[in-house]
Amino acid sequence: MWLLLGALCLARGLRGGGAGVEAFRNPETFMNISQKIVFHGYPSELYEVMTEDGYFLTVNRIPHGRRDRSGIPVLIVHGFCQDGGDWVDNFPDSSLAFILADAGYDVWLGNNRGNSWSRRHQNLSVDSVEFWDFSFHEMAMYDLPAMVGFILMQTEQEKLFYVGHAQGNTLGFIAFSSLPHLAKKIKLFFALAPVSTLRYARGPVLRTGWGHSPSIRPTPPFYKIEDMKVPVALWSGGRDWVSPPEEHFPEWNHFDYHWGLNAPQRLYMQMVTLMNENP
Ligand SMILES: *[C@@H]1O[C@H](CO)[C@@H](O)[C@H](O)[C@H]1NC(C)=O
Ligand SMILES: *[C@@H]1O[C@H](CO)[C@@H](O)[C@H](O)[C@H]1NC(C)=O
Repeated sequence: MWLLLGALCLARGLRGGGAGVEAFRNPETFMNISQKIVFHGYPSELYEVMTEDGYFLTVNRIPHGRRDRSGIPVLIVHGFCQDGGDWVDNFPDSSLAFILADAGYDVWLGNNRGNSWSRRHQNLSVDSVEFWDFSFHEMAMYDLPAMVGFILMQTEQEKLFYVGHAQGNTLGFIAFSSLPHLAKKIKLFFALAPVSTLRYARGPVLRTGWGHSPSIRPTPPFYKIEDMKVPVALWSGGRDWVSPPEEHFPEWNHFDYHWGLNAPQRLYMQMVTLMNENP
């Protein structure tokens, strides 16, 4: 079954400020993810998970909210050029990770290979060319299964919620459509595709799935994302991707919401509601 949902531009800018001037005012600028979690008064745990091909991924956990209870695990995977820290950067009432923790979920923040917190390999030096020789494909095929498997083992659960932002949702589409044994472990896939990264996100998925635009890569990987059995809730700033008439997504409908500046909070509350309704 596919779940149908609406459109929203989750602009990066909404999460506020970059480096520069900000660095002098914002004490969080120089904190790592664990420190940011603790700074906001939440419990923090840190793990290192090794992938089948030898990369060590740092995974942060907020096992529960400020009220002590712990529930179903949620794995959040970041976008391109971002890291798990993006989910704990704002005040607790506007950070997805904290909102989910306070709603009773067991929140895990993934860091894919090569990002600031996942730069260690069993045998390869981070200075070697071989270390960096990977693409979306390896992140989807190795990083996601390693993180999902580890979380389920650690929590003794059978399934989790997966939240993918930008690249994180591309990885979800690739991994869950290609690896049925992994797809079975996902209760519901929340795909957040901001307009700024949408073109990037749709590239490998749609191009290689239908091949009606010439590919840049000589042998593009082929992902049959229409085979994906995981229910997905998709939010996107790009109508064309949510309701692509020519691209064979018969299951996807499209509700066009016009939300205001508090869009992230409203989106996050919708996500919590959906999780609560699909325990
Ligand atoms: C973050 O900083 C804390 C305190 O210095 C340290 O214990 C922890 O290992 C660091 N985490 C990462 C992922 O570097
Ligand atoms: C790293 O080296 C060890 C020892 O040679 C080997 O057993 C292991 O498979 C290697 N890991 C990877 C990911 O190639």
